[in-house]
Amino acid sequence: QELQLNLEEIEKGGYDHFMLKEIYEQPKAIQDTYRGRLLADEGLIKMAGIDQNLERFLNADRIIIVACGTSWHAGLVAEYIFEDLTRIPVEVEYASEFRYRNPVITEKDVLIAISQSGETADTLAAIKLAKEKGAFVFGVCNVVGSSIARETHAGAYTHAGPEIGVASTKAFTTQITVLTLMALKLAQEKGTINKTQLHEFLVEMEAIPKKVEKSLEYNALVEQISDVYKDSSNCLYLGRGYNFPVALEGALKLKEISYIHAEGYPAAEMKHGPIALIDEQMPVIVIATRKGHYEKVVSNIQEIKSRKARIIAIVTEGDEVVKNLADHVIEVPEVMEALTPLLTTIPLQLLSYHIAVMRGCNVDQPRNLAKSVTVE
Ligand code: G6P
Repeated sequence: QELQLNLEEIEKGGYDHFMLKEIYEQPKAIQDTYRGRLLADEGLIKMAGIDQNLERFLNADRIIIVACGTSWHAGLVAEYIFEDLTRIPVEVEYASEFRYRNPVITEKDVLIAISQSGETADTLAAIKLAKEKGAFVFGVCNVVGSSIARETHAGAYTHAGPEIGVASTKAFTTQITVLTLMALKLAQEKGTINKTQLHEFLVEMEAIPKKVEKSLEYNALVEQISDVYKDSSNCLYLGRGYNFPVALEGALKLKEISYIHAEGYPAAEMKHGPIALIDEQMPVIVIATRKGHYEKVVSNIQEIKSRKARIIAIVTEGDEVVKNLADHVIEVPEVMEALTPLLTTIPLQLLSYHIAVMRGCNVDQPRNLAKSVTVE
């Protein structure tokens, strides 16, 4: 027993919890994920799983993404990137819904299954269904040799390394990394982006690990903010565009490990319901980075403020406008819009982590949750 505990301490590498360790591993995990694939100088992306099946991708009428939990959120981010860059229509679906609703699947569909563990029962079942209907099935998994990795026709691994904390962190950002590379590769092959745009993307991608590191430097500030809000019973997360899925993921993280009720919403949908919940008791976390619907998010913040909610905003470094409106701001470095999720996710992970610790919750093994759900 004691030996077991000591081993665990060693594995945590000086961090109090696996989750925190894994949050801090993200700069390296992201780099490991694009290493050898992203060749910025040559303006190239190498991905064997795509190269060997290029025709299937290029002839695809649409891409269907299936996943569960956090992986489903990565799928939503991918929808924006794929449609934006490749102009291939994308649908994202919960694997559990997809498998039971008699979906239309043809031989011209490409199904991408996203799964950290590669063992999620619903995702595996969705893959089998799509294969029976003749679709080409591509896996984005973290665990090498997992069931989903074996069941798919081809795939690309995230190289996040083992993720032990039940709440997914580095798996999410590395999934987004792989999916972004895939979208770029296909866009290049299809000619939907030009050389200059591709180069700009690749250079920005290479700068991401450093910018994630920079975002992690705000940890102490996030901890202070967590102390203010740790006793809340509800929380609302808002974002638009690429950061709408990040809002969903932020809310999921808080629910999973701190047991605070949280909801993620597209900021503009707020007026169709959630605004009724807003009062001085409700903390609202708003992702308001400068690129992407900035003015619109600012006016959403004004609406929230006039209803007296307390506002925590995730902003781009140097932002002055939101600083004057929000109760707290947490900065992330400037980055092109499509890559903002890789940065805006970081403070939200830290926020849920600190709140959970302060509430005395079991961060790495939250109640009722499993790391991989191998049953229905
Ligand atoms: C469980 C885990 C989540 C995870 C989801 C999907 O619910 O607790 O963290 O996002 O399964 O898992 P997968 O391994 O398929 O990504």
